[in-house]
Amino acid sequence: MTYNYTNLAPANIVTADVHDLALSVLEGLSGKPKKLNSAYFYDHVGSGIFQQITELSEYYLTNCEFEILRNQKESISNIFNDRPFNLIELGAGDGRKTLTLLEEFIKQGQDFKYIPIDISAKAMESLFERLKDNLDGHDLAVEGLVGDYFDGINACSQQTDRQNFVLFIGSSIGNFNHAEAEKFLRHLWYSLNPGDYVLIGFDLKKDLNILHAAYNDSKGVTSEFNLNLLTRLNETLDANFNRETFHHQGIYNVQLGAMESYLISKVKQTVKVGALDKEFHFKPWEGIHTEYSYKYTQYEIEMIAKDTGYEVVNHLFDSKHYFVDSVWKVRK
Ligand code: AVJ
Repeated sequence: MTYNYTNLAPANIVTADVHDLALSVLEGLSGKPKKLNSAYFYDHVGSGIFQQITELSEYYLTNCEFEILRNQKESISNIFNDRPFNLIELGAGDGRKTLTLLEEFIKQGQDFKYIPIDISAKAMESLFERLKDNLDGHDLAVEGLVGDYFDGINACSQQTDRQNFVLFIGSSIGNFNHAEAEKFLRHLWYSLNPGDYVLIGFDLKKDLNILHAAYNDSKGVTSEFNLNLLTRLNETLDANFNRETFHHQGIYNVQLGAMESYLISKVKQTVKVGALDKEFHFKPWEGIHTEYSYKYTQYEIEMIAKDTGYEVVNHLFDSKHYFVDSVWKVRK
């Protein structure tokens, strides 16, 4: 296995990060309703808690997608029938699910290069550890890119001698609202070549009790994930949130078709954010909106694919039809 990674992010990313966070908190907590950006869940601790969420039986998304990739890996591999390709993964994280595909592609003797893209250098390092532990001795070229999605895609999709296969799994697209999702997909379309493929994981609309349990788990891991955002603000922005006074709640918004996460202040209180030298006032039971997790129907997925320039090739479902990995071809 040969592997290396290029850092596309500026060297001052850590300091830039703190300023971005401070600005985002200023905007979010000054607004009505109050909100915080879900991108900030994933600090080192938050990424670990998210990992625990994926192991909960109530959080069916990960298990369903694992099942899909395990059962359909052959048909996914067959898309490329011996033609060389780049396997580009957006937000690769620790790569646990992708490993299943990598093993299959290697077994089928596919000629491919794996290009994981992640904003976190730490995630990239643990991904490499995982690959080393599982695939050492195999003939696999890995070229990681640390940076945002499009820096990464633009850095590798220019070559037209190989097809590109973009993986965007885990229902990460669910954090975008419909307008943002379309914008993202059009940008992806613009960066790719005709005949390239994408595989995108969508969580499907379903029984509300199942959704509710997935985002309000009985062990309180999701609550911990949400509250960790406050810990992060306390630590990095010198804030004084008292976590005990906030209550986690995941609620399905029928009109949007999305689960929404809130941190709700149980009391009237004032919170100080030192880095902003500013106080924020909470009314009793006032909420901070922290996340959207959009759910789709098969029909909505087909419409969004068509509207943004793709042809749906295949819908890969799990046995319960809770989740779909949708395979699209770039149409130009
Ligand atoms: C990683 C964005 C797919 O929205 O289901 C899990 C994050 N939030 N539990 C999701 C999450 C609460 C997750 N995504």
